[in-house]
Amino acid sequence: MTARVGILISGRGSNMQALVRAGGDAYRVVLVASDKPDAAGLAWAAEQGIATLAHSGKRGEREAAFDAALRGAGVEVIALAGYMRLLSDDFVARWAGRIVNIHPSLLPLYKGLDTHARAIAAGDAEAGCSVHVVTAELDAGDVLGQARVPILPGDTPDSLAERVLGVEHSLYPKTLAEFVKR
Ligand code: GAR
Repeated sequence: MTARVGILISGRGSNMQALVRAGGDAYRVVLVASDKPDAAGLAWAAEQGIATLAHSGKRGEREAAFDAALRGAGVEVIALAGYMRLLSDDFVARWAGRIVNIHPSLLPLYKGLDTHARAIAAGDAEAGCSVHVVTAELDAGDVLGQARVPILPGDTPDSLAERVLGVEHSLYPKTLAEFVKR
């Protein structure tokens, strides 16, 4: 059976685009929602004929609008793709075990922001990204998959972010396809 997936974004949504493009028998993206009405990814999703929703209001109102739209679209699994807001405990509880996220570090290393700068400052030899289940605690749910890249001499947070993003685009669709079959 093909799972119905909803995606939350805050920005350009390159991971969302990778998920949409890869969706096949395993899952189909039926809704893309954002806290930012001008998120570039929303316009792209609409051009693909995917239902979109933006809500820039307070968290409670925004999450209520997202929840109603996700349920209305028959969404079974939510994928966060560069969604830069903390979800409320209440929202996470309503979708318990059915929200996944991609985070640009090798969790449990570097939860939160500025992951690439922190990996470079620590002198790490490699960086990467993790797809994990979302729980009430930030970036702490079960890790479903990881991809690694080397940190090269002279890397900046931007150059490292670009290299990591390249592997995010293959890790996320593959891991989501496995997750929805569970
Ligand atoms: C990605 O690198 C993603 O891993 C990161 O934001 C970027 C979004 O890019 N997510 C987080 O930092 C979540 N804490 P995209 O909008 O092009 O997918």
